[in-house]
Amino acid sequence: MPISSSPFPASVKPHMYTIPIPGVKKRRFCHFSDTHLSVWDALSSPGQVSRALETERGWRATRDYFALKHEGALPPERLVSAQTHFENLLFASQDCDCLILTGDLLDYISFANVRYLDRQLSAFPRPYMAVRGNHENLAHEHRHEQGVPPAACLMDKPFQVLDFGDLLLLGLDDSDLRITSEQLNALEACAKTGKPLLVAIHAPILTEMNRSALSQAGDYDYFILNHSGCPTENTEFVKMLLDEKNNVRAVFTGHLHFQCAAPLKDGLWQYGVSQGIAGHLNEYIIGE
Ligand SMILES: [Fe+2]
Ligand SMILES: [Fe+2]
Repeated sequence: MPISSSPFPASVKPHMYTIPIPGVKKRRFCHFSDTHLSVWDALSSPGQVSRALETERGWRATRDYFALKHEGALPPERLVSAQTHFENLLFASQDCDCLILTGDLLDYISFANVRYLDRQLSAFPRPYMAVRGNHENLAHEHRHEQGVPPAACLMDKPFQVLDFGDLLLLGLDDSDLRITSEQLNALEACAKTGKPLLVAIHAPILTEMNRSALSQAGDYDYFILNHSGCPTENTEFVKMLLDEKNNVRAVFTGHLHFQCAAPLKDGLWQYGVSQGIAGHLNEYIIGE
């Protein structure tokens, strides 16, 4: 058996980054996304069990497709279920200072998926922020079962702020690929504090500097928040992120299903984490 030098379960594929910010205490943040869970439990009906199993089978093929396209064939230790990946990623993050979850943790909204996610995250011992992805958008076609209560662990507001004293983390719900004026105001209010700011969203943004890194995405209208023809608030949001005076130090995203860390401009990087359904975890040492 090969011995892994990583302290994590063998299914976890870590990517390490440093985000130096003078005057900010050194912290370790973890980030994963897009685990596309489809679980069933003792309360699920036979139809709900079939859907969960069918979805899991479908994702096995899809994750292999993304892997072959972007990173090569997955080794045997990473060919485990979405649920095992999710639990191993949580285990690998359990000592971090904050866990960032950038959406599509669930493949679709169902009673069993929501029960499972809430149970897992309510037991997570560290602060976390979980923004919604398009698969968790409440108006989206991924709502397969009627009457499912919203997952308590997922952000239930258009935005949320975690204040670390010398650093802010702002999460925004862009699960329908739209930024609202309320969210722009939230960004402005965070910027006014003068604290360095980190931003978590599901869909990534595109600038001239990361255009070639994002070119693998192909379908920009689906994958990119500020795609051509997007609402004006989306382009205003990007302008604000890039404006020096707003003190944004990093942007964290999911949705792409391939690893994509690239500068949005000099000194400001966007960190896209690859598919959690294949075990990817980003780790950041933030501060000094
Ligand atoms: Fe996804
Ligand atoms: Fe997505």
